[in-house]
Amino acid sequence: MVKKNACIFISGAGSNLNNLISRSRDYTFPINIKLVISNNSRAKGLNYAKKNLIPYKIINTHSRDFEYKLLKDLKRYNIAIICLAGYMKILSKNFINKFDKKIINIHPSLLPKFKGLNTYLRILKEKEKKTGCTVHYVDDRLDNGKIILKKFFYINSKDNEMNLKNKTQRLEYSAFPEAIIKLFRNN
Ligand code: GAR
Repeated sequence: MVKKNACIFISGAGSNLNNLISRSRDYTFPINIKLVISNNSRAKGLNYAKKNLIPYKIINTHSRDFEYKLLKDLKRYNIAIICLAGYMKILSKNFINKFDKKIINIHPSLLPKFKGLNTYLRILKEKEKKTGCTVHYVDDRLDNGKIILKKFFYINSKDNEMNLKNKTQRLEYSAFPEAIIKLFRNN
């Protein structure tokens, strides 16, 4: 199988990045990770890129031409898909249109419910019966775009922010790779 080149965008811990790196070692997994982008120079997740010798770049989203430079890098690495894995910035409409390939995001709720930040606390406060994660295409609105897949579990009365996060992230580690497989299954 001919694998596609992927670029993973992160801002923080990078556990989804780490999971995608290990999944991509499997020759049947449709992507190879060729580039990691972070808007945060202190993101712990950068260590996974370093450890696995994957090129990485820190972007300064305040600089006027960062999107232009980024698009050039994505072209240079022949990137066919961008996966936002805990990337906490919104991509501009201009960037999304110009990249013109797949861009997907993972979010720790059952979208369209609970877009944005502090997801777990809001879910607990609203006394939701179930929660989970969603992988979706990215548009220029926060946690928006066509849904690719969702996975859920039932919340129990003892759940708190910490273990809701653990349970959700465990689901993310199967949902993100599954969504990627689904996207490339027929092309
Ligand atoms: C993930 O749980 C992801 O769903 C969330 O950030 C976390 C990053 O964790 N993304 C969002 O909230 C996007 N709106 P990680 O850095 O350990 O992969």
